[in-house]
Amino acid sequence: MRIAIIGGTGVYDPAFLENPQEMIISTPYGDAKILKGIYQGEEVAFLARHGVGHSLPPHRINYKANMWALKSLGVERILSTTAVGSLKMDLMPGDLVILDQFIDFTKKRDYTFFNGDDGKVIHIDFTQPYCPELRKILFETAKELGLRIHYYGTYICTEGPRFETPAEIKMFSYFGDVVGMTNVPEVILARELEICYASVSLVTNYAAGISPSPLTHQEVLDVMSENIEKVRKLFARAIPKIPKERKCICKDALKEYKEKGIL
Ligand code: HPA
Repeated sequence: MRIAIIGGTGVYDPAFLENPQEMIISTPYGDAKILKGIYQGEEVAFLARHGVGHSLPPHRINYKANMWALKSLGVERILSTTAVGSLKMDLMPGDLVILDQFIDFTKKRDYTFFNGDDGKVIHIDFTQPYCPELRKILFETAKELGLRIHYYGTYICTEGPRFETPAEIKMFSYFGDVVGMTNVPEVILARELEICYASVSLVTNYAAGISPSPLTHQEVLDVMSENIEKVRKLFARAIPKIPKERKCICKDALKEYKEKGIL
């Protein structure tokens, strides 16, 4: 299984998969529930990040089990979705953003497989945190489909589960474009496993203080469900374009350490 989709808020079922079958994958970090199904003759894995029915808040998601499980299935490419608040007026609710950078404002997540217990010190390059090959395919496909999409976006990841204060948003808006609660550590763990990872964020609201009214989770869910068809169409059309052979930096993330015999 080469390709996986991670569905965020509002994306609990991979509507385009034929014959979805549930698998529980055991990992050293706990179990992960993954669906596998066929898409255009190709086996694709699907993982609902918040659990089916949105039962897991962002800070309780077992990111390490999820990513380890996908790796153990042979997954090399991940397309993920996230709901985000906008920090910029020109990123409007309903718009799609292909993330290219992130800033980590989380506080207490388990964000690495290399925590040094084994005496190994591993520092991975994050100049391009998201897979450039996948990002390009997603952008070109979105353009073909006539979707409103932005090719660049810095994702500010907060700890949550509360939404932000307007003062936080004022600060974040100097640094980033969108705000969400789940991309970290997912994007980091994918790179540590040399899996290509790209994320399409769907803007569900203007962030606190930019929006004239208080935020509700229902608003996020409503805008997500009104727009999710765009992401489904985008992924469905992008998946067949993903080449078998990877030419990106992601596959060699640990090369330096493998060459030195450390890993
Ligand atoms: N803040 C954080 N996470 C979010 C938001 C937001 O405004 N909207 C959707 N996910």
